[in-house]
Amino acid sequence: MILVTGGTGLVGSHLLYFLSTENDNITAIYRSKEKIAATKKVFSYYTENFNELFEKIHWIQADITDIPSLEKVFSKSYTYVYHCAALVSFDPKDYKQMRKVNIEGTANLINFSIDNNIHKFCFVSSIAAVGDAINNGIVNEENEWIDTKDKHGYAISKYGAEMEVWRGSQEDMNVVIVNPGVILGSGFYTEGSGKMFSQVHKGLKFYTEGITGFVGVKDVAKALIELANSDIINERFILVSENKSFKEIFQSIGTNFKVKKPSIGVNPFVTSIAWRIDWLLTLLTRKQPFLTKNSARSAHNKEYYSSEKIINNLDFNFEPIEKVIKDVCTDYLK
Ligand SMILES: NC(=O)c1ccc[n+]([C@@H]2O[C@H](COP(=O)([O-])OP(=O)(O)OC[C@H]3O[C@@H](n4cnc5c(N)ncnc54)[C@H](OP(=O)(O)O)[C@@H]3O)[C@@H](O)[C@H]2O)c1
Repeated sequence: MILVTGGTGLVGSHLLYFLSTENDNITAIYRSKEKIAATKKVFSYYTENFNELFEKIHWIQADITDIPSLEKVFSKSYTYVYHCAALVSFDPKDYKQMRKVNIEGTANLINFSIDNNIHKFCFVSSIAAVGDAINNGIVNEENEWIDTKDKHGYAISKYGAEMEVWRGSQEDMNVVIVNPGVILGSGFYTEGSGKMFSQVHKGLKFYTEGITGFVGVKDVAKALIELANSDIINERFILVSENKSFKEIFQSIGTNFKVKKPSIGVNPFVTSIAWRIDWLLTLLTRKQPFLTKNSARSAHNKEYYSSEKIINNLDFNFEPIEKVIKDVCTDYLK
């Protein structure tokens, strides 16, 4: 029996698809019924028989910060728990809520999973929770996390969530953690990483020269399942197919959409003005900011990540990012 959190989001929905091709007993939690339609849409990208696979999922309404709702979820026994739910935001206004959902929510799931005696807890963390590079080198799983003033709220909350998962391992529960880079995948284009596709499609003109790790959502789902089914326990794995610049990513999306590619390079000074203007506009319009101080800074950072550990342990093959972008653009236009 499998439990998935975050099944109405990017990672969880693709993970549910792959799990449904091999398993019959899958439970997923949701908060609002409308969001489940997005998961079904993701299934439809993979196969014409999506209804049959989708029907295998038993949905229970629950919030990971709400213990009574989790009590209902854990009234059944599970072998594997895949924890993909999180609040992903670079808006400082969301910091408190991010701590609640990402740290406290994970702690709740760990406590229920220990009581439930599950076989393995598989957690989706982020490269944001891995330590910084030493001397601008390549980051791997061993890089030490150091609390510095420039750590943003999302990173702190994901690191805190990992601490809860390691606590679970100290209580004799088997755990694995994946630390994906920026995840590219089909189905969610109004928020998070999916916004890159909708923005370029709408004619985004600007790019930055920042570099980070990117990975396809199918690889994240496949790595999670392979790690769950392996003998590996109490380890974390970076999931990055390639380190690329935002310029390369945006321009590749533009090429695949056959739209005008973003052609105006923006330097850190311009983005530092832009996030301040955006902040002022959000005060007036009360809309979510498009750019924050943190996201503006991240857009210029040059960070390189190594996935050698998962490649060596599982003989894992990552899909090239060009292929991932091509497939997402095709699904987007469907
Ligand atoms: N996207 C990326 O580029 C990226 C990169 C690295 C790591 N990650 C990590 O990957 C995981 C999945 O991210 P994603 O991109 O799939 O995010 P997403 O599309 O925003 O989905 C988040 C999921 O979490 C659920 N959720 C949020 N708060 C919840 C709560 N209090 N109780 C129950 N469920 C809740 C959401 O439910 P609703 O539908 O009800 O809102 C949704 O199903 C996260 O842990 C994230 O930190 C993401």
